[in-house]
Amino acid sequence: MRALVRSPRRPELLCAPGNPGIAADARVLDIDAGDIDALVVAARDERVDLVVPGPEVPLVAGLADALVDAGVACFGPSAAAARLEGSKAHAKEVMAAAGVSTARFRVVSRVQEGMAAIERYPTVIKADGLAAGKGVVIASDAGEARAALEAMLEQRRFGDAPVVVEEHLVGEELSLLALCDGERALALAPAQDYKRVGDGDTGPNTGGMGAYSPVPGVDAARAATLCAEIHQPVLDALRAAGTPFVGVLYAGLMLTAEGPRTLEFNVRFGDPETQAVLPRLRSDLLEALERACTPGGLAGVELDWTSEWAVTLVLASAGYPTAPHIGDVISGLDAVPDDVEITHAGTARRDGVIVTAGGRVLNVTALGRDPADARSAAYAGAQVIAFDGQQLRQDIALRATELAR
Ligand code: AMP
Ligand code: GLY
Repeated sequence: MRALVRSPRRPELLCAPGNPGIAADARVLDIDAGDIDALVVAARDERVDLVVPGPEVPLVAGLADALVDAGVACFGPSAAAARLEGSKAHAKEVMAAAGVSTARFRVVSRVQEGMAAIERYPTVIKADGLAAGKGVVIASDAGEARAALEAMLEQRRFGDAPVVVEEHLVGEELSLLALCDGERALALAPAQDYKRVGDGDTGPNTGGMGAYSPVPGVDAARAATLCAEIHQPVLDALRAAGTPFVGVLYAGLMLTAEGPRTLEFNVRFGDPETQAVLPRLRSDLLEALERACTPGGLAGVELDWTSEWAVTLVLASAGYPTAPHIGDVISGLDAVPDDVEITHAGTARRDGVIVTAGGRVLNVTALGRDPADARSAAYAGAQVIAFDGQQLRQDIALRATELAR
């Protein structure tokens, strides 16, 4: 949203459903992100020129199709193309068809079958469908593997779908997002996300606890090469299948000693990567998104980035990711230094005060001339915000400060 606010074209922005933070930048519509019919009606009534869906659930359910059918331009994939995120097993099939390297895997639908598919520990067990980043378990022994398979297949914690059992890969993780117009992919600056809830990558997986951009060792040329080897073949495969991909194709990569491997695709801007990537963009995002809505429209578009570093910290609520506590009063938002950008995620206004309303509550982003500088500004900003049980990882971008030294 902020990157669109910064557009020199000064667009009028609407956001559904929004939150108290977004209300400062956009007119908020009280429509649930999953209510496709109401969103389409609002887009037509308000004569919206372009819709940019944020979350994956409405995309997988056909929001982009419904908008395009109603004559509203949408920078987001059709339901068919969004299956790349909606089903891990489908994503694996597309990767195989496109010749994209991924972890070795088996799709299983019974616990016994899953146990038999495991070759060594640690191993990775993934729910097939959407799980908001929480459907992945890295099991270090047979007991953990069996418990994860039982939770996913027998207790159906993530619905009635099969499970992917895959090889555990080791290396640096990289989030590489690309704008796609159905025919070509244009890489955004790379980012690194912190998935585990605890310092030193401990505890369960989350939607993401912090991010930074750029990433040491991945310059623009390397990012473009990765995009040509991963995003572009996937785009070509989807186009050949009659389901061209428009929107953000987000590849979660592991840079292993044997080369890059794709762990997953998301079909939208990543959270919190986007909060670290887009403040570094100097080009007009609105212009690029509009062009991406026409097949081949991104031809000739180049994106300009600041050389500064960005670090984003996530302030999460007590109990996240297992059982987030909501309704805790948030203090200090007014005291955050001017050079720190606050992005609201799970917040709400109750009786005139801002309270926690979800697992990941706020993002705190700062820019700096090097990773250490951005990091200390972000932590200084985070320090003034308080709510009961707040969780904040202390090691976000720490490796980047060491690598960049
Ligand atoms: P995914 O939703 O598939 O990206 O998985 C979420 C997180 O789990 C990733 O960002 C990694 O940190 C971890 N992960 C997933 N697959 C693997 C794998 N094959 N090897 C090691 N870690 C993995
Ligand atoms: N940070 C990972 C995601 O957006 O799913």
